[in-house]
Amino acid sequence: MVSGRDTDKFSTTGLTPLKSDMVDAPYVKEFPLILECKVINIVEIGLHTQFVGEIIDVKADEAALNEKGFPDIAKVKPILFSPETRAYHKVGGYLGEAFSIGKGVAI
Ligand SMILES: Cc1cc2nc3c(=O)[nH]c(=O)nc-3n(C[C@H](O)[C@H](O)[C@H](O)COP(=O)(O)O)c2cc1C
Repeated sequence: MVSGRDTDKFSTTGLTPLKSDMVDAPYVKEFPLILECKVINIVEIGLHTQFVGEIIDVKADEAALNEKGFPDIAKVKPILFSPETRAYHKVGGYLGEAFSIGKGVAI
C-alpha cells in the first residue's frame, strides 16, 4: 500500500533493520529465522520471476528451535500467501512424520 521510496517502513512498523553478514541487504532483527541467500538461478516463469537461492548463512532465535536445534515450524509461525484469494494464512498443526506416516496403509 506504500512504497519504501516514499515511506520508511521500518519506523512505521517499529521493526529494526540490521546489516547482514554475507549479503548486501538488511535483515529484520525481530524476525525469528533469518536465511541469507546467494542467487544461483533466475527463471522467468510467466507472470513472475523465480529466484533460486543457496542458503549461505542462518540466524535463528533459540526460542524458534526444537530440542535438536532445528527450526520448529510451530515456533517460527510462518505466513503463507494465497495469491488467487489474495489472503494470508498461518500454518496449521502437526500431521505426522514424513517417510513413515503412510506405512502400513494398503494400496
Ligand atoms: C507475494 C506478494 C504479496 C504482497 N502482499 C502485499 C500486501 O498484502 N499489502 C501490500 O501493501 N503490499 C503487498 N505486496 C507488495 C509489496 O509488499 C510492496 O508494497 C511493494 O514491493 C512496493 O513497496 P516497495 O516500493 O517498498 O518495494 C505484496 C507483494 C508480493 C510479491
